[in-house]
Amino acid sequence: MATELLATVDLDAELQKQSPQKILQYAMEQYENLAISFSGAEDVVLVHMAQQINPNVQVFSLDTGRLHAETYRFIERVRKYYNVKIDILSPDAEAVRQLVTEKGLFSFYEDTHHECCGIRKTQPLRKKLSQLDAWVTGQRKDQSPGTRAGIPVIQDDKVFAQPGGRLVKFNPLANWSSQQVWDYIRAMEVPYNELHDRGYVSIGCEPCTRPVGPGQHEREGRWWWEDATKKECGLHAQNVDS
Ligand code: ADX
Ligand code: SF4
Repeated sequence: MATELLATVDLDAELQKQSPQKILQYAMEQYENLAISFSGAEDVVLVHMAQQINPNVQVFSLDTGRLHAETYRFIERVRKYYNVKIDILSPDAEAVRQLVTEKGLFSFYEDTHHECCGIRKTQPLRKKLSQLDAWVTGQRKDQSPGTRAGIPVIQDDKVFAQPGGRLVKFNPLANWSSQQVWDYIRAMEVPYNELHDRGYVSIGCEPCTRPVGPGQHEREGRWWWEDATKKECGLHAQNVDS
């Protein structure tokens, strides 16, 4: 195990110098059973790049049931544009029923987003990841100074690996800035969520996302009623735990 971890750290140092395309290519060559975790602007860039390597790349999206109508339309646009099968994952209906019956539809404003995100995002993600050897996310270092500044390009996912098993997580865009992502989107005419034209930068669920103004960091538009240093919903808990 120690050798494996050391190998991942060494590999990360090497891959940090590579372009996102090269990192993705490495990931897809090494791990056949790999999927892209798709929801936002960065992720379509990954889908776009991955399609050029293997048009049958696996893609999944967590449908929390609370996304903007625009986001649902965007997911559909991406599905058609790339002719890609997107595995759309729903939360456990009974867990949602219990939560909203006991605490209402907006409990996250009162007792933090963790319980709701746990049910609507983390649990379905855990189930999906139990079937994969590797996953790819669109996380960037400059997305969240408090939690993502040190994210590696490749890491052993300790949070979602099965007991005794191994799961590898790739963040090929870790070293790209928001500007680089948007330059790529414009140059390649990659589809994007129409909410970006209305001041939204980082987009999650509708009740927990708002547009940001000039000079505000993109993360300020997410869970704005909570402490800025703890803004991870569980998908990337390793960023705050490690
Ligand atoms: S979040 O954890 O705060 O919601 P963020 O919106 O910054 O994450 O996105 C970072 C990465 O997490 C995305 O690039 C994507 O890979 C993954 N991700 C976030 N939300 C979803 C979702 N609903 N479905 C699938 N992947 C997601
Ligand atoms: Fe629930 Fe908000 Fe988390 Fe979406 S972002 S799962 S609505 S707490």
